[in-house]
Amino acid sequence: MKITVPKIIGLKDKRLISMMTAYDYPSSKAISDADIDIILVGDSLAQVVLGYDDTLSVTVDEMLHHVKAVTRANPNSLVVADMPYMSYHVSKEETIKNAARFIQEGKADAVKIEGGKKREKMIKALINAEIPVMGHLGLTPQSKNIMGGYKVQGKTLELAKELLEDAILLDSLGCFSFVLEGVPKVVAQTITEKVSIPTIGIGAGVHVDGQVLVYHDLLGMKSKEYIDAKFVKRYDNQYEKVVEVMKKFKKDIENKDFPTDDHSYDSGDSLPETLKEWKKEVKKILS
Ligand code: KIV
Repeated sequence: MKITVPKIIGLKDKRLISMMTAYDYPSSKAISDADIDIILVGDSLAQVVLGYDDTLSVTVDEMLHHVKAVTRANPNSLVVADMPYMSYHVSKEETIKNAARFIQEGKADAVKIEGGKKREKMIKALINAEIPVMGHLGLTPQSKNIMGGYKVQGKTLELAKELLEDAILLDSLGCFSFVLEGVPKVVAQTITEKVSIPTIGIGAGVHVDGQVLVYHDLLGMKSKEYIDAKFVKRYDNQYEKVVEVMKKFKKDIENKDFPTDDHSYDSGDSLPETLKEWKKEVKKILS
Protein backbone atom coordinates (compact mmCIF):
# COMPACT_ATOMS: atom_id res chain seq x y z
CA MET A 1 0.00 0.00 0.00
CA LYS A 2 1.19 3.52 -0.84
CA ILE A 3 2.90 5.25 2.08
CA THR A 4 1.50 8.70 2.81
CA VAL A 5 2.76 11.76 4.70
CA PRO A 6 0.37 11.20 7.68
CA LYS A 7 1.56 7.58 7.85
CA ILE A 8 5.19 8.76 8.14
CA ILE A 9 4.30 11.22 10.92
CA GLY A 10 2.41 8.45 12.74
CA LEU A 11 5.46 6.18 12.75
CA LYS A 12 7.27 8.31 15.34
CA ASP A 13 7.79 6.28 18.53
CA LYS A 14 6.12 3.26 16.87
CA ARG A 15 8.76 1.87 14.54
CA LEU A 16 11.89 3.14 12.84
CA ILE A 17 11.65 4.67 9.36
CA SER A 18 13.79 3.62 6.37
CA MET A 19 14.70 6.04 3.59
CA MET A 20 16.87 5.45 0.52
CA THR A 21 17.88 7.68 -2.37
CA ALA A 22 16.89 6.70 -5.92
CA TYR A 23 17.42 8.43 -9.23
CA ASP A 24 15.88 6.07 -11.78
CA TYR A 25 13.13 3.56 -12.57
CA PRO A 26 14.83 0.24 -11.69
CA SER A 27 16.20 1.43 -8.34
CA SER A 28 12.81 2.90 -7.46
CA LYS A 29 11.16 -0.47 -8.19
CA ALA A 30 13.69 -2.43 -6.12
CA ILE A 31 13.47 -0.04 -3.16
CA SER A 32 9.68 -0.17 -3.19
CA ASP A 33 9.73 -3.98 -3.47
CA ALA A 34 11.92 -4.01 -0.34
CA ASP A 35 9.21 -2.01 1.51
CA ILE A 36 11.48 0.96 2.23
CA ASP A 37 9.24 3.74 3.59
CA ILE A 38 10.62 6.76 1.74
CA ILE A 39 12.46 7.27 -1.55
CA LEU A 40 14.44 10.48 -1.67
CA VAL A 41 15.36 11.71 -5.12
CA GLY A 42 18.31 13.46 -3.55
CA ASP A 43 20.31 16.27 -5.09
CA SER A 44 23.21 13.87 -4.43
CA LEU A 45 22.17 12.94 -8.00
CA ALA A 46 24.64 15.68 -8.94
CA GLN A 47 27.65 13.71 -7.71
CA VAL A 48 26.67 10.05 -7.77
CA VAL A 49 24.94 9.96 -11.16
CA LEU A 50 25.79 13.13 -13.10
CA GLY A 51 29.47 13.39 -12.10
CA TYR A 52 29.40 16.97 -10.80
CA ASP A 53 31.83 17.94 -8.00
CA ASP A 54 29.09 18.97 -5.56
CA THR A 55 25.33 19.38 -5.26
CA LEU A 56 25.42 23.09 -6.11
CA SER A 57 25.52 22.46 -9.86
CA VAL A 58 22.36 20.41 -10.38
CA THR A 59 19.28 22.21 -11.76
CA VAL A 60 15.51 21.85 -11.35
CA ASP A 61 15.22 20.45 -14.89
CA GLU A 62 17.89 17.82 -14.24
CA MET A 63 16.29 16.81 -10.93
CA LEU A 64 12.85 16.67 -12.53
CA HIS A 65 14.05 14.28 -15.24
CA HIS A 66 15.04 11.81 -12.50
CA VAL A 67 12.01 12.41 -10.26
CA LYS A 68 9.82 11.42 -13.24
CA ALA A 69 11.81 8.21 -13.79
CA VAL A 70 11.46 7.29 -10.11
CA THR A 71 7.69 7.89 -9.95
CA ARG A 72 7.07 6.04 -13.25
CA ALA A 73 7.87 2.89 -11.26
CA ASN A 74 4.76 3.60 -9.13
CA PRO A 75 6.60 2.88 -5.87
CA ASN A 76 4.63 2.29 -2.68
CA SER A 77 7.32 4.30 -0.88
CA LEU A 78 6.63 8.00 -0.32
CA VAL A 79 8.61 9.92 -2.97
CA VAL A 80 10.37 13.07 -1.78
CA ALA A 81 12.01 15.35 -4.35
CA ASP A 82 15.05 17.28 -3.16
CA MET A 83 14.86 20.94 -4.14
CA PRO A 84 18.21 21.91 -5.67
CA TYR A 85 20.33 24.90 -4.72
CA MET A 86 18.79 28.27 -5.72
CA SER A 87 15.37 26.76 -6.44
CA TYR A 88 14.01 27.96 -3.06
CA HIS A 89 16.25 30.87 -2.13
CA VAL A 90 15.06 33.80 -4.25
CA SER A 91 11.35 34.35 -3.57
CA LYS A 92 8.28 32.59 -2.25
CA GLU A 93 6.73 32.67 -5.73
CA GLU A 94 9.72 31.02 -7.37
CA THR A 95 9.96 28.48 -4.55
CA ILE A 96 6.31 27.44 -4.96
CA LYS A 97 6.64 27.33 -8.76
CA ASN A 98 9.70 25.07 -8.61
CA ALA A 99 8.24 22.79 -5.93
CA ALA A 100 4.96 22.55 -7.85
CA ARG A 101 6.86 21.24 -10.88
CA PHE A 102 8.12 18.33 -8.76
CA ILE A 103 4.56 17.61 -7.59
CA GLN A 104 2.63 18.24 -10.84
CA GLU A 105 5.09 17.13 -13.53
CA GLY A 106 7.28 14.82 -11.44
CA LYS A 107 4.41 13.25 -9.44
CA ALA A 108 6.47 13.45 -6.23
CA ASP A 109 4.58 13.30 -2.93
CA ALA A 110 6.65 15.93 -1.10
CA VAL A 111 9.77 18.09 -1.36
CA LYS A 112 12.85 18.46 0.82
CA ILE A 113 14.68 21.70 1.48
CA GLU A 114 17.83 22.43 3.47
CA GLY A 115 18.00 24.90 6.36
CA GLY A 116 15.99 26.14 9.34
CA LYS A 117 15.29 29.74 10.34
CA LYS A 118 16.80 31.10 7.08
CA ARG A 119 14.14 29.20 5.09
CA GLU A 120 11.16 29.94 7.36
CA LYS A 121 9.24 32.06 4.81
CA MET A 122 9.70 29.53 2.02
CA ILE A 123 8.64 26.57 4.17
CA LYS A 124 5.49 28.42 5.25
CA ALA A 125 4.67 29.32 1.64
CA LEU A 126 5.10 25.72 0.48
CA ILE A 127 2.91 24.28 3.21
CA ASN A 128 0.27 26.95 2.50
CA ALA A 129 0.35 25.75 -1.11
CA GLU A 130 -0.43 22.21 0.16
CA ILE A 131 3.06 20.92 -0.57
CA PRO A 132 4.41 18.63 2.19
CA VAL A 133 7.91 19.63 3.27
CA MET A 134 10.72 17.51 4.68
CA GLY A 135 13.43 19.65 6.31
CA HIS A 136 17.18 19.03 6.40
CA LEU A 137 19.43 20.30 9.24
CA GLY A 138 23.01 19.88 10.36
CA LEU A 139 25.53 19.19 7.61
CA THR A 140 23.60 20.67 4.70
CA PRO A 141 25.72 20.03 1.59
CA GLN A 142 24.30 23.04 -0.29
CA SER A 143 25.95 25.26 2.39
CA LYS A 144 29.40 23.73 1.87
CA ASN A 145 30.99 27.07 0.94
CA ILE A 146 29.63 28.76 4.08
CA MET A 147 30.56 25.77 6.27
CA GLY A 148 34.06 25.57 4.73
CA GLY A 149 33.55 21.98 3.58
CA TYR A 150 31.57 18.96 4.69
CA LYS A 151 31.98 19.19 8.46
CA VAL A 152 30.09 17.74 11.41
CA GLN A 153 27.76 20.47 12.72
CA GLY A 154 26.52 21.36 16.23
CA LYS A 155 29.75 20.50 18.02
CA THR A 156 29.59 23.29 20.61
CA LEU A 157 26.82 23.98 23.10
CA GLU A 158 25.94 27.22 21.32
CA LEU A 159 25.79 25.55 17.87
CA ALA A 160 23.85 22.58 19.24
CA LYS A 161 21.34 25.04 20.75
CA GLU A 162 20.92 26.74 17.34
CA LEU A 163 20.28 23.36 15.75
CA LEU A 164 17.70 22.52 18.39
CA GLU A 165 15.96 25.87 17.81
CA ASP A 166 15.88 25.21 14.06
CA ALA A 167 14.46 21.73 14.68
CA ILE A 168 11.70 23.09 16.92
CA LEU A 169 10.96 25.72 14.27
CA LEU A 170 10.59 23.12 11.48
CA ASP A 171 8.22 21.17 13.71
CA SER A 172 6.13 24.27 14.47
CA LEU A 173 6.00 25.30 10.79
CA GLY A 174 4.39 21.98 9.86
CA CYS A 175 7.23 20.04 8.22
CA PHE A 176 6.29 16.34 8.29
CA SER A 177 9.84 15.20 9.15
CA PHE A 178 13.43 16.31 8.69
CA VAL A 179 16.83 14.88 7.89
CA LEU A 180 19.55 15.31 10.51
CA GLU A 181 22.91 14.97 8.78
CA GLY A 182 26.40 14.95 10.29
CA VAL A 183 25.65 15.90 13.90
CA PRO A 184 26.95 14.40 17.16
CA LYS A 185 24.72 11.55 18.28
CA VAL A 186 23.84 13.19 21.59
CA VAL A 187 22.63 16.31 19.76
CA ALA A 188 20.53 14.16 17.40
CA GLN A 189 19.04 12.30 20.36
CA THR A 190 18.12 15.52 22.18
CA ILE A 191 16.52 16.98 19.06
CA THR A 192 14.61 13.76 18.36
CA GLU A 193 13.19 13.76 21.89
CA LYS A 194 12.14 17.43 21.66
CA VAL A 195 10.21 17.36 18.36
CA SER A 196 6.87 15.78 17.50
CA ILE A 197 7.84 14.82 13.92
CA PRO A 198 10.19 12.04 12.81
CA THR A 199 13.90 12.75 12.45
CA ILE A 200 15.75 10.81 9.73
CA GLY A 201 19.45 10.48 10.47
CA ILE A 202 22.52 10.20 8.29
CA GLY A 203 25.66 10.40 10.37
CA ALA A 204 23.50 11.24 13.41
CA GLY A 205 23.76 8.02 15.42
CA VAL A 206 21.10 5.52 16.35
CA HIS A 207 18.80 7.64 18.56
CA VAL A 208 16.75 9.14 15.73
CA ASP A 209 13.43 8.05 14.21
CA GLY A 210 14.85 6.65 10.98
CA GLN A 211 17.92 6.32 8.77
CA VAL A 212 18.78 7.28 5.20
CA LEU A 213 21.71 6.31 2.99
CA VAL A 214 22.66 7.05 -0.60
CA TYR A 215 21.88 4.09 -2.91
CA HIS A 216 25.28 4.07 -4.63
CA ASP A 217 27.15 4.29 -1.29
CA LEU A 218 25.25 1.38 0.29
CA LEU A 219 25.72 -0.82 -2.78
CA GLY A 220 29.38 0.11 -3.18
CA MET A 221 28.84 1.42 -6.70
CA LYS A 222 31.91 3.64 -6.49
CA SER A 223 35.45 2.82 -7.51
CA LYS A 224 38.11 1.83 -4.95
CA GLU A 225 39.80 5.22 -4.79
CA TYR A 226 36.56 6.88 -3.61
CA ILE A 227 36.64 7.40 0.16
CA ASP A 228 33.30 6.87 1.90
CA ALA A 229 32.09 9.24 4.63
CA LYS A 230 32.34 7.78 8.16
CA PHE A 231 28.56 7.26 8.28
CA VAL A 232 28.40 5.04 5.17
CA LYS A 233 27.92 1.32 5.54
CA ARG A 234 28.81 -0.52 2.32
CA TYR A 235 26.55 -3.56 2.06
CA ASP A 236 28.12 -4.69 -1.22
CA ASN A 237 30.93 -3.94 -3.67
CA GLN A 238 28.96 -3.68 -6.89
CA TYR A 239 31.47 -1.48 -8.71
CA GLU A 240 34.06 -4.23 -8.64
CA LYS A 241 31.46 -6.82 -9.63
CA VAL A 242 30.39 -4.70 -12.61
CA VAL A 243 34.01 -4.34 -13.78
CA GLU A 244 34.43 -8.14 -13.52
CA VAL A 245 31.26 -8.75 -15.58
CA MET A 246 32.37 -6.23 -18.24
CA LYS A 247 35.71 -8.02 -18.53
CA LYS A 248 33.92 -11.37 -18.96
CA PHE A 249 31.64 -9.87 -21.63
CA LYS A 250 34.62 -8.52 -23.59
CA LYS A 251 36.38 -11.88 -23.36
CA ASP A 252 33.26 -13.77 -24.48
CA ILE A 253 32.97 -11.52 -27.55
CA GLU A 254 36.61 -11.99 -28.46
CA ASN A 255 36.42 -15.80 -27.96
CA LYS A 256 33.06 -16.03 -29.79
CA ASP A 257 31.54 -17.51 -26.63
CA PHE A 258 28.74 -14.99 -26.89
CA PRO A 259 26.22 -15.10 -28.44
CA THR A 260 25.54 -18.84 -28.58
CA ASP A 261 22.64 -20.46 -30.44
CA ASP A 262 20.61 -19.88 -27.28
CA HIS A 263 20.83 -16.13 -27.87
CA SER A 264 20.26 -16.25 -31.66
CA TYR A 265 17.12 -16.48 -33.80
CA ASP A 266 16.37 -19.31 -36.26
CA SER A 267 14.93 -18.29 -39.59
CA GLY A 268 11.71 -20.34 -39.31
CA ASP A 269 10.16 -22.91 -41.67
CA SER A 270 9.75 -20.75 -44.77
CA LEU A 271 13.31 -19.46 -44.98
CA PRO A 272 16.59 -21.25 -45.77
CA GLU A 273 18.44 -22.26 -42.61
CA THR A 274 22.10 -22.32 -43.68
CA LEU A 275 24.32 -19.55 -44.95
CA LYS A 276 25.04 -21.53 -48.09
CA GLU A 277 21.34 -21.76 -48.94
CA TRP A 278 20.88 -18.07 -48.17
CA LYS A 279 23.66 -17.16 -50.54
CA LYS A 280 21.94 -19.16 -53.28
CA GLU A 281 18.66 -17.33 -52.66
CA VAL A 282 20.32 -13.93 -52.63
CA LYS A 283 22.11 -14.72 -55.91
CA LYS A 284 18.75 -15.63 -57.48
CA ILE A 285 17.15 -12.37 -56.27
CA LEU A 286 20.04 -10.24 -57.55
CA SER A 287 20.33 -11.92 -60.97
O1 KIV B 1 20.75 14.39 -1.54
C1 KIV B 1 20.78 13.48 -0.72
O2 KIV B 1 21.08 12.32 -1.04
C2 KIV B 1 20.44 13.79 0.66
C3 KIV B 1 20.56 12.71 1.68
C4 KIV B 1 21.96 12.38 1.96
C5 KIV B 1 19.81 13.04 2.91
O3 KIV B 1 20.11 14.89 0.93
